[in-house]
Amino acid sequence: MTESSLCTKKLEGKIAIITGGASGIGEATARLFANRGAKVVIADVQDEKGQKLAESIGSNICSYLHCNVTQEDQVKTVIDWTLHTYGQVDIMFSNAGKLRKYDQDGQILDLELSTVDELLAINARGMAACVKHVARAMVERGVKGSIVCTGSTAAISGRVGWTGYHMSKHAVLGLMRCAINHVAEAVLFLVSDDSAFITGHNVMVDGGRFV
Ligand SMILES: NC(=O)c1ccc[n+]([C@@H]2O[C@H](COP(=O)([O-])OP(=O)(O)OC[C@H]3O[C@@H](n4cnc5c(N)ncnc54)[C@H](O)[C@@H]3O)[C@@H](O)[C@H]2O)c1
Repeated sequence: MTESSLCTKKLEGKIAIITGGASGIGEATARLFANRGAKVVIADVQDEKGQKLAESIGSNICSYLHCNVTQEDQVKTVIDWTLHTYGQVDIMFSNAGKLRKYDQDGQILDLELSTVDELLAINARGMAACVKHVARAMVERGVKGSIVCTGSTAAISGRVGWTGYHMSKHAVLGLMRCAINHVAEAVLFLVSDDSAFITGHNVMVDGGRFV
């Protein structure tokens, strides 16, 4: 067993940004990261929820900033604020996103393309903006950081070599509470030194559903 795997403060000294961190998987990950020693910046559009969460985690270790990831300037502002406040950024968990069900009978026949546009703007384009600006900050400062994205952008992640995770709808629909924490633990592994030699992977967190 490595020294790192025995350490409960695996993220001590690390600065993490979590988009979509006000609820769900992002919230669970924010709590876990803070518990493991990181300073956490939550970036979301749910201001009241995000503020309350940051306060409950502790205003000395967690902050909330309004950020709509579809707006590139807002993404850049969050990263600039983090750099100004903490001097660096080590972790980006690009998690903001929306899910829509397209698999119900007949739904494709009435598919509203405006819905598809909205999903792509948040889940794909928004994440690309997060990855672009945080990668710039890391490269400029010589930081070997971790960038973890939700499944939505994992498909393109291999091209630029960041660590991604992938999860199934089943994991959340079937085991909501349990699965959220499982995903948070998987993200913790990916951003910690325990996975230092792992990069460019899609990790399924689905309890074996798609094996
Ligand atoms: N839950 C699943 O089964 C599943 C499966 C595949 C992918 N995902 C992805 O995982 C991520 C988290 O899922 P979840 O179940 O915790 O969802 P959730 O709805 O509980 O949380 C998503 C968060 O993203 C925020 N958000 C939405 N649009 C935003 C925007 N434009 N800018 C900033 N923040 C925004 C929301 O306010 C919310 O806090 C999402 O990207 C989702 O698409 C989830």
